[in-house]
Amino acid sequence: MRPIPLDEIRPVLATDPRWTSDGVELELEHTVVKVDEDDGRLRAVLDACDGWRNVAEIREQHGAEAGDLLVELLDTGALVDVEGLWRRFHRLSGNPPPVTRVISDEEVDALVAETFVPPSSMGDPIEVHAAPSALGRAAHRRSSALPLPEPRPLRWEQLQTLLRVAYGRGERWFSVPSGGALYPLVLHVILRKTLGPLEPGIWWYDHWRGALRLQSPGRPEVEPFLVSHPITDPLVEREEPLLAISADLSRTCRKYGARGYRFALMETGAVMQTAYLVGAELGIPIRACGGYSDAGMNRLLAHPDGVVCMLALFAGA
Ligand SMILES: Cc1cc2nc3c(=O)[nH]c(=O)nc-3n(C[C@H](O)[C@H](O)[C@H](O)COP(=O)(O)O)c2cc1C
Repeated sequence: MRPIPLDEIRPVLATDPRWTSDGVELELEHTVVKVDEDDGRLRAVLDACDGWRNVAEIREQHGAEAGDLLVELLDTGALVDVEGLWRRFHRLSGNPPPVTRVISDEEVDALVAETFVPPSSMGDPIEVHAAPSALGRAAHRRSSALPLPEPRPLRWEQLQTLLRVAYGRGERWFSVPSGGALYPLVLHVILRKTLGPLEPGIWWYDHWRGALRLQSPGRPEVEPFLVSHPITDPLVEREEPLLAISADLSRTCRKYGARGYRFALMETGAVMQTAYLVGAELGIPIRACGGYSDAGMNRLLAHPDGVVCMLALFAGA
């Protein structure tokens, strides 16, 4: 995160507070920060951390001790500047999820069969048809790769095309739109086997240059961070490349606040869909994969604070 002068920080909690009889517990990714209540003012101080008021204003309103508490909580990461508000939803939507309700397989089947229908009454349906187009054909052929008996290894020229088309510069800008043209996504190729000129390692795709750079050499141990599933386990065993799509949220949220998180998700989706379309056109097996450990993947990719993995893609099968 960029350094912001202490008094200008507009603090917000990076997590939902859990109130206890002693005070408050703030559960973060790696720690639980506990603050004891001794003078009955803790709740008012944390309530003041609403993203509107800065540290100087809160200190003035609640006193020097409150200011010290803010410094302490900012140090632990339990409080962050309002630019870091995305952390709250990111943690809640993380894997493994901190809070969730487990649903049965039957409920999942029922959900798949359900669809949205507007609540008000409607007129008769008018069918719509697509004009023939190469893109339409690719879109309608698109599907997520399955581990078929015959392996379909990714070729070097296919990887290049995937990267250049899914997040590459075109005549003017990139192949996908980006809120504010910030292009905050960070793409990596997690490569466990040699591919063309690429040795095993973690390769960073420099989308501005259209070039791959070796970020860390050696076969990456990605397997422990992937959630085991009957479809993806055989794909993992084939040791085909995994593309990791991450977002530099510190950049996009600096401009857009928490809304930058949405924008990053949308851009990730655009890259994912473009990869699927290229895959359908060129016969490259693709499968999106949200089933990974957030912390593990971010560690593997050596992400600095503020950069997080949003989605992985199996390429090749
Ligand atoms: C955001 C996202 C996350 C996904 N995560 C996984 C995953 O972890 N494992 C998996 O096997 N498929 C995953 N998929 C693929 C879906 O299961 C697949 O798109 C869906 O079953 C529809 O099948 P189709 O893509 O072949 O049409 C994911 C898809 C999306 C869009």
